[in-house]
Amino acid sequence: MLIRMKTKIYKDKQEVAQQFAAYFANMVKEKEQVHVALSGGSTPKVVFDLLAADYGDEIDWNKIHFYWGDERCVPPEDEESNYRMTVEHLFSKIAVPEDNIHRIMGEAEPIGEAMRYANLLEINLRRIAGIPQFDLVLLGMGDDGHTASIFPHEIDLWEAKDHCVVATHPESGQKRVSINGKVINMAKTVSFLVTGQSKAEKVKAVIEKTQGYQQYPAALVEPITRKLVWFLDEEAASLIHK
Ligand code: 6PG
Repeated sequence: MLIRMKTKIYKDKQEVAQQFAAYFANMVKEKEQVHVALSGGSTPKVVFDLLAADYGDEIDWNKIHFYWGDERCVPPEDEESNYRMTVEHLFSKIAVPEDNIHRIMGEAEPIGEAMRYANLLEINLRRIAGIPQFDLVLLGMGDDGHTASIFPHEIDLWEAKDHCVVATHPESGQKRVSINGKVINMAKTVSFLVTGQSKAEKVKAVIEKTQGYQQYPAALVEPITRKLVWFLDEEAASLIHK
């Protein structure tokens, strides 16, 4: 499938954050309601800080329902929690209604929580061919080419029949709850936020489909709407043809 992939390359992480924040604010302005799945890890921190600082009073947060593409199976107060990270860098600084925040309960039993969250997505989101459709799915990418919490050693989870799956971090063994590839690819728009030199090799493999790219879950991101936008800094984009 030919994807209308946009590759936006900026000087550094800060500029990526500025450009993505403007893009997000503009997207929200145009819509009545927005259902967005957030990514975790470290890259979103600077983006969330900037969104709160520069758009805190401009964005109508009542319009936005927040979900996560994945969560670590830890309590919400744990430093590994994507929910905690988002509270610290965004929610604690903006007027977002509590009812608009739909967190994955990392403290709960993973399989049961994956089912509960899948059910919540089915209730809250429009469904296309039975698959919940987000307006926007934010993704990061690991140095190993994983995205959300679909890792290369469990790439079959991408096609899992359940909307949400339980995954295992390859090094730490940490359990994760993640949306599957079908939910990711059903999104109206998918945006990758990827920065840093350590990502350059996989960015090249995934974007330029170099040898062996199929083993990287990030390479399976092909939204049915074909709307895929990469926000990269120069380091992460250092190996791709410009
Ligand atoms: C998570 C993520 C994961 C993340 C990548 C990149 O919970 O860890 O959702 O997919 O986006 O690992 O992480 P960094 O931004 O920290 O490099």
